[in-house]
Amino acid sequence: ATAGTAAAAGSAGAAATTDLDPASVPKFTQAMPLAPVATPYMSMPMMMDCYALTMQEANKEILPGVQTRVWTFNGSFPGPVIKARSNVRTLVDQTNNLPVGISVHLHGAHVPADSDGDPVVLIPANGGTKTYTYPNTQPHASLWFHDHAHHAESESAFRGLAGTYLITDDIEQGLNLPSGAYDVPIQLRDARFDDQGQLLYQLGDFQNRNVILANGRAWPFHAVAARKYRLRFCNTANMRTFTLALSDGSSFQQIGSDGGLLPAPITVSQVTLSPGERADVVIDFSRYAVGTTLELVNQGTGGPAEQIGKVLQFRVDRTAADTSVVPSTLRTLPVMAAATVNRSFVLGMGGGIATINGVAYVPDRIDTEVAYGSTEIWTITNSGTGTHNFHVHLVQFRVIERAGAQVTAGPDYGLKDTVRIGPGETVKIQATFTGYRGQYLYHCHIFDHAAMGMMATMRVS
Ligand code: C2O
Ligand code: CU
Ligand code: CU
Repeated sequence: ATAGTAAAAGSAGAAATTDLDPASVPKFTQAMPLAPVATPYMSMPMMMDCYALTMQEANKEILPGVQTRVWTFNGSFPGPVIKARSNVRTLVDQTNNLPVGISVHLHGAHVPADSDGDPVVLIPANGGTKTYTYPNTQPHASLWFHDHAHHAESESAFRGLAGTYLITDDIEQGLNLPSGAYDVPIQLRDARFDDQGQLLYQLGDFQNRNVILANGRAWPFHAVAARKYRLRFCNTANMRTFTLALSDGSSFQQIGSDGGLLPAPITVSQVTLSPGERADVVIDFSRYAVGTTLELVNQGTGGPAEQIGKVLQFRVDRTAADTSVVPSTLRTLPVMAAATVNRSFVLGMGGGIATINGVAYVPDRIDTEVAYGSTEIWTITNSGTGTHNFHVHLVQFRVIERAGAQVTAGPDYGLKDTVRIGPGETVKIQATFTGYRGQYLYHCHIFDHAAMGMMATMRVS
């Protein structure tokens, strides 16, 4: 009952308690925006790029003809794209002009603890500042950034604080994947609106968030040329898992996931993304005649099927040259060191709280002591009847086993920072904890669950 009050005060004056009917929102009439690429205010080539971002409220047209009050980085919804390069440092000066304290977290990044977005060390509301240091000491990856303030992260993300952060390196640049205008970051999420078109946030309110946004527009279309596109999907929804497919049932290639490219492309007819996960896919629209329209659909469940099944429409409206290729080998995954420590974690819900190993998050309580440099296997079990996932800060891990089966191929076989865990399922991950010491979080990335306590602290020392 904190952030919501402040935000509601900034939205439509009259008390609007009725929901917008998602069926009343026109489908595929607005073009999908492209997130603006942020420009550094200072660059030292191959050494450092400095950015300044201001968190501020803004009015955006999410629904056709309606101005919705959202929270933004630099006035953009979706948030801007920061482009970084491995081993070239990024500094981001964040100014918080929002009415609540914020702690910015770069999801999937290998960063010093004091730049990781501590849940209780906040950038003060109404003008506070902090500079975050991101050394980018990791391979190419499609990351994102969002608020991590304790209990407020869920609402802040819902109100719009989510940006894209792409690290590239020589391995990725050495391939000739679709690039430039044909490499498109797409944030997918859901939202709930009142009948004035203002965002309506309640904790744990999954069943009412029934409007689907792609790059900040409700059910938009994207005009494409009849050629290959690289689409980088990031699920920035609080709670919704998307299972994405093409409406004609045709297959496409998945080339990457959270921590960059897969070892080799895989041919898939769908990709499943729980909150926080990313999928890098290549769709070859050259198989369609100019004039074809097709939809990206969500085969996941939850909410009225008619609305939820639709996500985004592709309109093939022109031809274009295409010299890009998806090679049969994309990268070599780092060799895993032998694990010397095993731990188990159980995710559970009940009595209005959400827990890991039976306890809800308490700031600064050390739940797990990790020896610096050690390699560990974590066995994580979802004891409930709904989906959870598991996200670990600091590292990119490997998913080594799912539901008793070893992972040797497929979408789990890459560098991951967030892994979906279905009801009753057990997943094993392996990671080496190196690079930085300090306190880092691990949690369910269903933001509302994290806010309800499904989060804990490890200390690497
Ligand atoms: Cu995407 Cu702990 O965060
Ligand atoms: Cu994270
Ligand atoms: Cu959860």
